[in-house]
Amino acid sequence: MTTTGLGLPTSDIDLFSDEVLADPYPYYRRLQDMGPLVELPQYGVVALARYAQVTDALTDWETFSSADGVGLNDILNQAFQGTIIASDPPYHDQLRAVLAERLAPRSLRTLRADITERADRHVEDLVARGSFDAVTELARAVPVAIVLDLLGFPAEGRDRLLEWAEGFGNVNGPANERMQGSLPVVEELFGWLTTTCTRERMVPGGFATTIHEAAERGDIPEEAVVPLMSSYALPAMETTISAIGSAVQLFMENPDQWEAVRADHSLIPGAFNEVLRMESPVQVFTRVTHRPYSAEGVSIPENVRVVVLYGAANRDERRYPDPDRFDVRRENVDHVAFGLGTHSCPGQGLTRLEAHAVLEALARRVDRWEPAGEPRRRIMNITRALDSLPVVVH
Ligand code: HEM
Repeated sequence: MTTTGLGLPTSDIDLFSDEVLADPYPYYRRLQDMGPLVELPQYGVVALARYAQVTDALTDWETFSSADGVGLNDILNQAFQGTIIASDPPYHDQLRAVLAERLAPRSLRTLRADITERADRHVEDLVARGSFDAVTELARAVPVAIVLDLLGFPAEGRDRLLEWAEGFGNVNGPANERMQGSLPVVEELFGWLTTTCTRERMVPGGFATTIHEAAERGDIPEEAVVPLMSSYALPAMETTISAIGSAVQLFMENPDQWEAVRADHSLIPGAFNEVLRMESPVQVFTRVTHRPYSAEGVSIPENVRVVVLYGAANRDERRYPDPDRFDVRRENVDHVAFGLGTHSCPGQGLTRLEAHAVLEALARRVDRWEPAGEPRRRIMNITRALDSLPVVVH
């Protein structure tokens, strides 16, 4: 541990190396133990790995601004400037208002029966087979079936959305090979949104139509339409897929916890929070300080890019005792997997609806999980997800 110009502890842990991305938790612990603010000179950023600093950053946008982008490379930060995730109030709130009503609990209630039925039918078919891949055949199928219809994109090109959504897990990272490799994928998505997802081609009643209508009324500028459509399409897929895959993995590894949920379905909402706490689908975004910030006697000036480590905060032993233990009865409602404050995830109600429906359907039919092969992880810069999880169900 050495110190640099900022007078902070510094670390040479490379958060974006294959090794760290495969299992970041021991590295997060090391950063947490070094102090509340740790410089990572390799990326020219300061890491916030403790729960207290992560929540400070997420709940104070005037100090920790998103307006300079929330990624780790200039290309993306410039390209995404002024999008919902990369803007501050008041403009941010104007964008956020467009779909607020459609994602509010009242609107989601009307979707519950349909989502439950779709999830149930899908799970019934898979379980009847006795073995399946919990990522490719379960986790990926549900959001595709549900979210794409809700968004109301035209059929043409929909099959590419999954691949494009995977790109989202990489492009916000540092300008490494993974990031460069995903850039063309994201460019393709923007091309599709601009040329194919025009007002006339949208499925009536979908979120995308609501976005076009907001621009027609003058609530948002016309040029905000495509970025806003992408902001809802991309994170809606990969994150939910990640969470459902991790849920099956964690339950398979912790049979007593599955037994508890099977015996009492009212534990499902808490259990899903515990999945998100343990394996946060979004591991990192960034902010830039627009004012100085201090914590426990150390400080950073304005104009410093900080890395907000959601997945580290959720496993901080200062907040969660025995943080690596998967415990469906744990007090965990304050986890930060959906962020907090101004930018907290507007899709969390929808995600919960989907995930609870899947877990309920599984809890009714699966007594026991067994691995049917080695799980495979997909290594991505920003998001954490499995690629394949073969299971046998009894
Ligand atoms: C397990 C599922 C999900 C997780 C873990 C997740 C996670 C997150 C996180 C951590 C943020 C905060 C970013 C920040 O602090 O800057 C966020 C923002 C966002 N999420 Fe999600 N998300 C999920 C599902 C969804 C879904 C289903 C949708 C769309 C329906 C969605 C749309 C968005 C949008 C538009 C933002 C930007 C909000 C803003 O900047 O005001 N997410 N999400």
